[in-house]
Amino acid sequence: MIYIHEVMNVHIVDLIEKKKRGGELTEEEIGYIVSGFTDGSIPDYQMSALLMAIVFRGMTGPETTALTMAMAHSGDMVDLSALGPHTADKHSTGGVGDKTSLVLCPMVAACGGKMAKMSGRGLGHTGGTIDKLESFPGFSVSMSGERFLEIADTVGFVIAGQSANLAPADKKMYALRDVTATVNAIPLIVSSIMSKKLASGARTIVLDVKTGSGAFMETEEQAFDLAREMVSVGRNAGRNMAAVVTDMDQPLGFAVGNALEVKEAIAVLRGENVPDLKELCMVLGSQILVRSGLAPDEIEARARLTESIESGAALKKLAEMVSAQGGDSAAVFDTSLLPAAPVQRSVKAPRDGFVTAMEARDIGLVSMHLGGGRASKEDEIDLGVGVVLRAKVNDPVRAGQELAVIHAADEASAAAAEEELLRCYTFGDGPVDRPPFIRGVVC
Ligand code: URA
Repeated sequence: MIYIHEVMNVHIVDLIEKKKRGGELTEEEIGYIVSGFTDGSIPDYQMSALLMAIVFRGMTGPETTALTMAMAHSGDMVDLSALGPHTADKHSTGGVGDKTSLVLCPMVAACGGKMAKMSGRGLGHTGGTIDKLESFPGFSVSMSGERFLEIADTVGFVIAGQSANLAPADKKMYALRDVTATVNAIPLIVSSIMSKKLASGARTIVLDVKTGSGAFMETEEQAFDLAREMVSVGRNAGRNMAAVVTDMDQPLGFAVGNALEVKEAIAVLRGENVPDLKELCMVLGSQILVRSGLAPDEIEARARLTESIESGAALKKLAEMVSAQGGDSAAVFDTSLLPAAPVQRSVKAPRDGFVTAMEARDIGLVSMHLGGGRASKEDEIDLGVGVVLRAKVNDPVRAGQELAVIHAADEASAAAAEEELLRCYTFGDGPVDRPPFIRGVVC
């Protein structure tokens, strides 16, 4: 066998050295690294050293683009061209209570978009869209490639689990980053997220980059840097791009927990106003419609998205998709058919005043400890449990007023969750200044 490095006359040690000294790797060198690591000819210890050098030295724009493209091409590149020009995808950098896809995809589908999405399962404090969807009895997230395209074409959206051969370089690299303290570096996050998005094939990609205590990027500055880099890489790859930077200092909406979040998403599709969730779907949805050419401007896009809810078309799209993926669509119209926890415990405010802060990440962990999330990939989850918040930041409260309702499998776990949840709230005598929920749009 002839290895690429023999042809190129390079050795991985030289490339680690080059990056360690702050040099710029060429496209060919990056291609060699990604293919060598994916096929096993570059071992974990050398890749770890290189990843750490990238953490300290960073990458230029062309390096990040080359890394992303090499990782995207390490496996299948999904071809969505049969679905026409309006294919779109959305990615969120992960948050607590984030059920956006369950609202956004049906709205966009009702406006003529085609969203063929691959989503992940939840891990740690954040939930995963496909876990939430499995709340529908019978719902399946695995299907053939042909069926995936057929549902996207006929219904307008489909949400499946990530195919095994989508950006395999990222799967291997992420596992290594996780155990070598090299997750938190913008070029590595950009290439990880964007390689999967580019390989998934949509022409328009809209990103929701979270900032705050429940997010990966805790400061707004880091979130904007990440957003700008991802938009730039996507554009270099010829996709229509936009990114929205949004607040994750408190959970999105009120519900945290799988079936509870599905119920909240359905409530929004029925016309109920859950302010932050609804606004986020309107902003992401209007970016998708405008960037993909389905609406001439944001005003028209918002009008169409509003109409998709008011006419019931978006709710109908959700039911069609649930049914196409083997689920019981009756649960879309009668949410008592969704899983529910046997114990509900009301958590009361300990004092008069205002809620001044909430630890979003810790509220995600309350739901996880109730059984609604996974500590490790193999864990089974309880779809019915979680938390429904009744008060969020800057809401006035009286001592003894209901702050939240815990949905638990038994009294003991409900009692433990109550203590944990109360520690997530901070109270004060007056409201606090807060930046807007939507911090900005990068496009
Ligand atoms: N999500 C990803 O898929 N990759 C990262 O590196 C970080 C968040």
